[in-house]
Amino acid sequence: MDSILVTGNGPLNGEIPIAGAKNACLTLMPATLLSDEPLTLTNAPRLSDIRTMTALLQSLGAEVSALQGGKVLAMSSHGLNNHTADYDIVRKMRASILVLGPMLARDGHAVVSLPGGCAIGARPVDLHLKALEAMGAEMDLRDGYVHAKAPGGRLRGGVVEFPFVSVGATENALLAATLAKGTTVLKRAAREPEIIDLANCLRAMGAQIEGDGTDTITIQGVDRLNGATHPVVSDRIELGTYMLAPAICGGEVELLGGKRSLLEAFCQKLEEAGVEITETDKGLKVRRKMDRVRAVDVVTEPFPGFPTDLQAQMMALMCTADGVATLEEKIFENRFMHAPELIRMGAQIDVHGGTATVTGVKQLKGAPVMATDLRASVSLILAGLAAEGETRVSRVYHLDRGYEHVVRKLSAVGAKIERIKEE
Ligand code: UD1
Repeated sequence: MDSILVTGNGPLNGEIPIAGAKNACLTLMPATLLSDEPLTLTNAPRLSDIRTMTALLQSLGAEVSALQGGKVLAMSSHGLNNHTADYDIVRKMRASILVLGPMLARDGHAVVSLPGGCAIGARPVDLHLKALEAMGAEMDLRDGYVHAKAPGGRLRGGVVEFPFVSVGATENALLAATLAKGTTVLKRAAREPEIIDLANCLRAMGAQIEGDGTDTITIQGVDRLNGATHPVVSDRIELGTYMLAPAICGGEVELLGGKRSLLEAFCQKLEEAGVEITETDKGLKVRRKMDRVRAVDVVTEPFPGFPTDLQAQMMALMCTADGVATLEEKIFENRFMHAPELIRMGAQIDVHGGTATVTGVKQLKGAPVMATDLRASVSLILAGLAAEGETRVSRVYHLDRGYEHVVRKLSAVGAKIERIKEE
């Protein structure tokens, strides 16, 4: 298993390009299942999760070609011939459940294995299933699979009121409702930029959607959708992660393609901590104003709040801050697995239930650490960049799921980082 070796090396300076969003791309790809015509995504990120979704769609009979080194995904589902999403692929990635809504909407039946994914909590899919049931679907859970059917072969519009915000369940319901007969209203819908991106793509395919970006989305079902070409929105989590690199190491880094509107709550917290953020023609420029940032408290929330996917990375920054910070995790119940690893590097962290109290130290120390999930792994790299000596992060396959060319991007701004290949 490969590992990443990081050596603390002082301030970082230069530019980092931001890729298309993994989480947007993973919900845009299943949209191909809704149409017989080609769907092409540009600005796609080159990641193992995208290859997993590619394999899943291909297993259903869709054609997916990665062009221009993977930056363009040309897809077509005219030859769809299998309606079972198999355990062997689905268990690798929770987002696989997003093929359920589109297959059911298009052909009236689908069988999808219950998913796996990062071990950051129970993460059930009950809200996805309830939303589709509100559109008339009949569900049967057997042998670890969801067997779903639409009576009469077509879903019908309905009112879906989510008990709390779920990004994935909103996406599955939105995808399915585009081809349902009649009007669907999604209440307490997620408002994430990835939802708006999905709605934009579906509209380009001929769907009738209003209210995306608010908590009520209304979809008027249509009989068929056409093909389209759609650019994937920038990855706000990759953006936030790399904004933290100059914040933790010092220096000035420009994030190409970055937009503040994707991360307003996060930007405000960084500014409170003493980091300067400037919007430029090319993206966002980030500079640490003082020798050491100030401690700030963070509570994770659905968009537009502080994203849970940046909590681990923010914790790495707070480990070196002046003062005591509390980080409250409200989305997932088991998302502090990076804390014991950061403690190995000299951090002072107390975890009580869903809250971590971090007392900043002047200097972290390099150590061998283990990545436990995608965002945790990159938080250890950030900590390693600021630490004295060498940090070796093992199990980096987690990182490959969500960060393209991490070594190349951080080396380009002066970080001492290399990937150690192992047989
Ligand atoms: C998506 C993102 C993930 C991010 C998360 C929250 C993708 C591929 N992944 O995950 O990176 O961390 O949003 O911003 O886009 N829940 C249920 N039942 C359900 C669905 C969810 O109880 O049927 C719970 C989850 O366990 C969690 C909360 O709802 O506690 C929010 O999860 P959700 O927004 O659905 O996250 P994902 O869509 O899985």
